[in-house]
Amino acid sequence: MLIALFPGDGIGPEIVAQAKRVLDALGIDGLTYEEGLVGGAAWKAVGHPLPPETLDIAKRADAILFGAVGDPDCDGLERHLRPEQAILGLRKELGLFSNLRPAKVFPELADASALKPEVASAIDLLIVRETNGDVYFGEKGFRTTAEGWREGYDIMSYNEAEVRRIAHGGFQAARARRGKLCSVDKANVLETSQLWRDVVIEVAKDYPDVALSHMYVDNAAMQLVRDPGQFDVILTGNLFGDILSDQASMCVGSIGMLASATLNAEGKGLYEPIHGSAPDIAGQGKANPLATVLSAAMMLRYSLGLGAEADRIEAAVARALAGGARSADLGGTMGTEEMGDAVLAAL
Ligand code: NAD
Ligand code: IPM
Ligand code: MN
Repeated sequence: MLIALFPGDGIGPEIVAQAKRVLDALGIDGLTYEEGLVGGAAWKAVGHPLPPETLDIAKRADAILFGAVGDPDCDGLERHLRPEQAILGLRKELGLFSNLRPAKVFPELADASALKPEVASAIDLLIVRETNGDVYFGEKGFRTTAEGWREGYDIMSYNEAEVRRIAHGGFQAARARRGKLCSVDKANVLETSQLWRDVVIEVAKDYPDVALSHMYVDNAAMQLVRDPGQFDVILTGNLFGDILSDQASMCVGSIGMLASATLNAEGKGLYEPIHGSAPDIAGQGKANPLATVLSAAMMLRYSLGLGAEADRIEAAVARALAGGARSADLGGTMGTEEMGDAVLAAL
C-alpha cells in the first residue's frame, strides 16, 4: 500500500512528521511512502505549486496524507502559481469531491472549547462539504466597469449532477450515524442554492429513514454556537463548508484538532487537517499535530481498511489528552514533538 506524503508549507512538515511517527509506531506491514512537493515549497523548488511528479505520485498512491499549503512569500504570484492551487488542483484532478470533516468533543477537552462546557460536550457532528464545484471553480477574473472601476468576479454555480452525488454522500453518512441530515444553503438569495435545495429534496426520496432539514447558512453559523448538539450531519457546498468547519473547530476546542478526509467516486482519499500552514507559528515547533494524527487515522480506516489501527490512534489521542497533553492552542505549553511523544507513549 502506497501512501503519498505531501507535507507542504509552514507547519505542514512539522505536523506531518508527527503523524508519520505515529503511523510507524503501529508497525503495519506493507506500508510504503513517497514524498512529494506541494505548495509554496514546490513553487520555490520547481516553479509550480503542483508539479506533474507530485500529481503522478498522488495518482499512483492508495491514499494521500497532506499537511498544509500557503506561504506569504507567494501572495503576489498569479493565482495559478499560488500554493493553494496544490490542494485545489489535487481535489479537482483526482475528483475528490466529498470532504468529510468530523467535529466531536473529546470529553477530556471540554474545557478548551470557546463554548460553555455543557454546550460543547454535546458536539458530535460531521460536515459533508462538496469540494469540486461552487464559486471556487467557476469563471473568475478582473475587468473594468463602464464607469472605469476595477472589478473582480467569481461565478458561483452548481449543476444537478454535482449536487446529487454529494447529497447521496450526505444521506449515506447520516444513515450510518444518527439519521439526521441538515442541508445548509442560502436558497433565499442564491439560485445556486435553490437548485441545491431542490436536488437534495429529490435525493431524499431514496432515504426515507433519514430526517432531512434545511437551514440558511447565516442561521447555521449562529446555531453552531448556540446549540451545536442539534446537528448530526451538515451537508453543504464548498464555500459554506469551508467557513462552517473552521467555526466548528473552535466549538470543539481548536483548529488544531479537526481532521478531514476527501474522497472521490472510487473511494480514493486525501487526508489533511482542516487548518492551513499557520505562518504565524511556523518553524517554532508549537503547532498542534493532533489534527494531522487524526487525519492519518481516518486514512487507515477509509482508504486502507485498517479500522482497528485507526481506533488505536484515536484512543491514544484521547488518552494523551486525558493525561494532560496540551499544546499552546489548547491552553498548554507542549510543543509539536512533545504532543507526538504523548501520543506515542499512549499507544
Ligand atoms: P491557518 O489555519 O493556517 O491559521 C489560522 C490560525 O490558527 C493561526 O493563528 C494559526 O497559528 C492557528 N493554527 C492553525 N493550525 C494550527 C495548529 N495545528 N496548531 C496550532 N495553531 C494552529 O489559516 P490562515 O492563517 O488563514 O492561512 C494561512 C495559510 O494557509 C494561507 O496561505 C491559507 O491559504 C492556507 N490554508 C491552507 C489550507 C490547506 O492547506 N488545506 C487550509 C487553510 C488555509
Ligand atoms: C481548506 C482551505 C482551502 C479551501 C484553501 C487553502 C484553498 O481553506 O482546505 O479548508 O478553501 O478549501
Ligand atoms: Mn479552510
